[in-house]
Amino acid sequence: MSSTVLGVSDLRIYYYTLTGIVRAVDGVSLSLSEGEALGIAGESGSGKSTLGYGVLGLIPPPGRIVRGSVVIDGVDITKLKPAELRKIRWSKVSMVFQGAMNALNPVYTVGHQLSEPLILHKGLSVKESLAVAAEMVKKVGLTPDILRRYPHELSGGMKQRVMIAMALLLRPRVVIADEPTTALDVVIQAQIMNLFKELRQSERNAMIFITHDLSIIAEIADKTGVMYAGKIAELGLSETVFGNPLHPYTQGLLRSIPRLRAKEKITWIPGVPPDLRIPPPGCRFHPRCPYAMDVCRSEEPPEIEVERGHVVSCWLYVKR
Ligand SMILES: Nc1ncnc2c1ncn2[C@@H]1O[C@H](COP(=O)(O)OP(=O)(O)O)[C@@H](O)[C@H]1O
Ligand code: SF4
Ligand SMILES: [Mg+2]
Repeated sequence: MSSTVLGVSDLRIYYYTLTGIVRAVDGVSLSLSEGEALGIAGESGSGKSTLGYGVLGLIPPPGRIVRGSVVIDGVDITKLKPAELRKIRWSKVSMVFQGAMNALNPVYTVGHQLSEPLILHKGLSVKESLAVAAEMVKKVGLTPDILRRYPHELSGGMKQRVMIAMALLLRPRVVIADEPTTALDVVIQAQIMNLFKELRQSERNAMIFITHDLSIIAEIADKTGVMYAGKIAELGLSETVFGNPLHPYTQGLLRSIPRLRAKEKITWIPGVPPDLRIPPPGCRFHPRCPYAMDVCRSEEPPEIEVERGHVVSCWLYVKR
């Protein structure tokens, strides 16, 4: 029996900027069970990274969680004090940040950086923590001699593996990977994707895989969520979302994936995502949607469960 490890309910995260309030995540709900992988897709600026920060409980200023809950293993982390949050971060939930491989500290060895969380969170000695770190780097396909090396001695792919090892080190229940392959060349991308697949089998964490590239999600995720302008447009099992895309935005995204020998023309959705300080009323996708009706321009579409576990926010599926 799989149990629910992560439950996000009506999460709203806004950035309070000098030029207005950016509604980056605006009413997102989802849940994940042990060992399950959820892919989050959507164009740049749709709120994917901000959703990741929300699940991690680390919103960069001037951002703030204004509503909703993030329940990890029965605990609503939006209610925790900063010190309590620090305790669960990396041990219950961790994140491989977008562009993370450049975040390694250049003045410390990999071993130093990997052993530090083990010393702080688990109270291990330096020797014990280095032994655990050595096991973990082997898991991500590196040799333990890397522990003596400095970040500048490593390739991009090696650094990304170190960051993945860091995220997994304390055996968190939920791991978020934000565009973990974007900065890498295609061969290394494929290696990192294979690594994630192996780790899913061996570690059984719940995983959120964030990417603008739907073909990556098709490869790894059990469930797929498509984000548009701070909201989930469609969410369901990957095979149903890919096999029977319901939301016009998902349909447009899928048509825009180049396929080898595909007969149909690749088309891109015309227009650009809205400014999240002044999102369009009604359905946020209506200015770009070929099916937009009057109701779409004034009323927000409700979430409709069209088939079991396959939810879409679109007026086309509301029986009226
Ligand atoms: N620190 C910040 N301050 C103000 N606005 C931000 C900040 N970070 C992100 N945003 C805005 O929030 C929205 C969502 O951004 P983000 O979560 O990074 O999207 P994605 O990861 O899908 O590209 C965008 O409009 C972006 O400009
Ligand atoms: S609610 Fe209306 S505008 Fe929005 S995606 Fe559906 S049909 Fe298009
Ligand atoms: Mg991002």
